[in-house]
Amino acid sequence: MRPPPPASQSLLELPLVRDTGALPLQRQLHDRLHQAILDGRLSAGSHLPGSRALAETLGVSRNTVAAVYEQLLAEGYVESDRQGTRVLALSRALNRPAGESAGLPPPRLAERLGGLHATHTRLEAPAYLRPGIPDLAHFPVAAWQRSLDRALHASGPATLDYGDPLGEPALRAAIAHHIGPARGVRCEPDQVVITDGAHGALQLCVRLLTNPGDTAWVEDPGYRGAKAALQAGNLQVLPRRVDAEGILISPQDWQGEKPRLIYTTPSHQYPTGAVMSATRRLSLLEAAQKHGTWIIEDDYDSEFRHAGSPIAAIQGLFEHTPVLYIGSFSKTLFPSLRLGFVVLPRQLLSAARSALGELLRCSPRHNQLALADFISSGQFSRHLGRMRRLYRARQLALREALHKHLQIPHTLDGGLCGLHLTIHLPPAWNDKSIAAALRAQGLNPFALSDFALAPQREDNGLVLGYGNTPTELLEALVRKLAGTLLAT
Ligand SMILES: Cc1ncc(COP(=O)(O)O)c(C=O)c1O
Repeated sequence: MRPPPPASQSLLELPLVRDTGALPLQRQLHDRLHQAILDGRLSAGSHLPGSRALAETLGVSRNTVAAVYEQLLAEGYVESDRQGTRVLALSRALNRPAGESAGLPPPRLAERLGGLHATHTRLEAPAYLRPGIPDLAHFPVAAWQRSLDRALHASGPATLDYGDPLGEPALRAAIAHHIGPARGVRCEPDQVVITDGAHGALQLCVRLLTNPGDTAWVEDPGYRGAKAALQAGNLQVLPRRVDAEGILISPQDWQGEKPRLIYTTPSHQYPTGAVMSATRRLSLLEAAQKHGTWIIEDDYDSEFRHAGSPIAAIQGLFEHTPVLYIGSFSKTLFPSLRLGFVVLPRQLLSAARSALGELLRCSPRHNQLALADFISSGQFSRHLGRMRRLYRARQLALREALHKHLQIPHTLDGGLCGLHLTIHLPPAWNDKSIAAALRAQGLNPFALSDFALAPQREDNGLVLGYGNTPTELLEALVRKLAGTLLAT
């Protein structure tokens, strides 16, 4: 019989690290042997030294070596019998030198991700004039902390368990009581399903109501997050233009393939700011009802109404509407809270209830309970009132600065609600290049054309967020913006 191949001598004799903070000796020895077996330095069939000998060489206890051999045995890297411990033959197909990834098959993403490209390049904070961010410095952290404390203390260990998959009953009730009077939404608490923001609500609508290949109509220009959620659901996403009265759907559009879903922001179209006219609301509801289409109404920023009386949600125009109403706390509180909701029509809720129980796993319960406390203690309404006043003043300051400094021809849209204004620019000013030039100066408005699936000539402009930009900076920032536009 041939003598067994010796295990690599130097590898086994190398001293272990004994500095403070170093890994335990047993762990170091295990890692060393394990790695050497994997990369072939300890080849199949080679004998490991006896535990006593190796313990002496390394200056560790025999128990330490014996424990490492035991672990390698349990993990299936070695076998042992009366003749000692031998390295087993392993497949080395997965083993490549560090940094070499050639062995991995080329990544093949799901086809439905093909059309998804992040185009709104985001700067790190402060990212002045970036749309969609509320003033985070004005968030009442102390009051929120009190709500979190109450949620943690009052609920006891039971809330560490899984909760109702559709959301905490207290939060669902608080939301239903708020959106009834505030937004004209007709619902009972059990129709409110808590989600991971508006985005989670959109994904849920897609999963509940569509099959791959179904058609969805979206506003164009419109919210990219909605298009992404629909596209990721393998839907055929068709752009529908937006004008001053909101999404434009002609009777001819209904003669082709009927959409399964229509995504719309009727109270304050994102990003143009159009408010859907009453005629259009009624004809949209009527056509959707007739053709078995569901409308997803995204009411993302209507809590911040700046002029005129509030425009009620289309969900509540009648007793039963084919509308899934979506809301989010990303603008009213803060985006990383990741809490939003969808109000399901009652007949849909009845049909989907048991599927929902399997599909959902509820958002973090303490955040939900804290939010329920924040709303029912009146903090939410007080915060909304303060922020409304702040944003109103900011919008005014932004308008005045634009009026004073912007010398090139432009029109200004939106502003009835929310946290942004949209400037339309003549075609000679390329909005993508301007947005890039502004980013280099720390300003982060988004190019209007990036919101469109099928950009038209008039989709050239900038979406200016004023939510998280201090009022006192607005004039200087607009001067910078105007200077960049003149220089382009
Ligand atoms: C139109 C629209 N809907 C919803 C949201 C909020 O999404 P989420 O709740 O997932 O943060 C945004 C955020 O920018 C938005 O622009």
